[in-house]
Amino acid sequence: MSEPVIQSVIARRIWDSRGRPTVEADVTLSDGAAGRGIAPAGASRGSREAVDKRDGGKRFGSFDVQDALQGIRTEIARALAGLDPFDQAAIDARLVALDGTPNKARLGGNALTAVSLGVLHAAAASRRLPLWFYCLGDKPAIIPLPEIQVFGGGAHAGRRTDVQDFMVIAPRAKTFAEALEVTSEVYHSAGRIMAERGLLQGVADEGGWWPAFSSNEEALETLMRAIERAGLVPGEDAAISLDVAASEFGKGGRYRLGLEQRELDRDALAEMLLQWCARYPILSIEDPFAEDDDKGFEQFTAAIGDRIQVIGDDYLVTNASRVAEAARRRSVNAALIKVNQAGTVSEAKAACDEGRRLGFGTIVSARSGETEDTSIVHLAIGWGAGQLKVGSFARSERMAKWNEALRIEEALGSKARFAGLDEMPMRRRTTKAVEAGVGGAVVGAVVDRAAALAERGYRGGRAR
Ligand code: PGA
Ligand code: ZN
Repeated sequence: MSEPVIQSVIARRIWDSRGRPTVEADVTLSDGAAGRGIAPAGASRGSREAVDKRDGGKRFGSFDVQDALQGIRTEIARALAGLDPFDQAAIDARLVALDGTPNKARLGGNALTAVSLGVLHAAAASRRLPLWFYCLGDKPAIIPLPEIQVFGGGAHAGRRTDVQDFMVIAPRAKTFAEALEVTSEVYHSAGRIMAERGLLQGVADEGGWWPAFSSNEEALETLMRAIERAGLVPGEDAAISLDVAASEFGKGGRYRLGLEQRELDRDALAEMLLQWCARYPILSIEDPFAEDDDKGFEQFTAAIGDRIQVIGDDYLVTNASRVAEAARRRSVNAALIKVNQAGTVSEAKAACDEGRRLGFGTIVSARSGETEDTSIVHLAIGWGAGQLKVGSFARSERMAKWNEALRIEEALGSKARFAGLDEMPMRRRTTKAVEAGVGGAVVGAVVDRAAALAERGYRGGRAR
């Protein structure tokens, strides 16, 4: 029997977790196998991301996607018909060429993302393999370390805090399942503390608690208390991860903290973050500076990149050449990976592969606007990313992904290696990275954050 080809691509409008329209694409092959791709949507986006095609106008807050759907039904469906679904690189190259713009504005990053993922799913279905296995091939499976939001702020919670995500990581967890158990306890304990203090306003876009804090640091303090109240040791059982998402409140080296009504320059922001790192068991910080602030990133990573993970999200926009450039400048040591930031599966994978090659941490990530789609979990495992960021521990568009990871971990059984902290850049050893001179001191230096804190006499949120 001859190999199947793409037979049809169908597009429909569905609704995301914010109740906004988004694009879904169903791809069917000549052997009857079918795959579905759905585009998620960001709220704090980098200016270099692939842009979503939205209709504008008055309907649905200008977010409708009829034009994006139309492009799939006509041009894209025609262009992909008869192509080999197993050659994802060729499919994606075709989509990129068809669009013809540097930022996917013509056909839309949302249209391309949905179709690209749809083809990948159809190919896996044709081979009768789960997506993660289809992507992984014969490489060993790594179950990613989850970083899970407890408080949501920034663009996801009416700017109730300037820092967008306050998250936990479970450094001692031996399995993904255990990491979720730790998170569940911390998440609920944080909710109880906030309710008692009258600081709980609901849940934010990614399911984290929507807080009424009066400073950004109050979130860190509350998180410490939540970890302790859950009967856990901060820094040992539960560590902290932040997404500052600084492009949302900074430009040209100046940063405006709305919550605290003060403006910081680059150095003052760095100073504040470094103090937080000294006081709290912080393992990872994403976008500590705005996307235009190379200097801020470089200085910050030079100061602390051997001890914590410094992630570029808006800064790198899932772009392999930006990842390579950041490695050269040593401006971050980790890359967030979002398929719709790049616009196609292959471009996102290239950014992830480049990060891996250079000794970076790589974190496959959801967007704040999500759906029931669990592809990112499969991609994180299939690409060997080592880390996964999905949002918080509530709302089914988030829980669907955590639950999917549990199922895959169970299916893999003893063949699964849980990444724990091993895939964070402080722990990664790659000769490639040494050759490329990435992160200098970070490579080979096995830093145990918890031990470092213990040495410094860390107690209850204060370094002595
Ligand atoms: P977004 O943000 O999906 O709202 O753009 C998520 C993130 O900054 O990681
Ligand atoms: Zn981010």
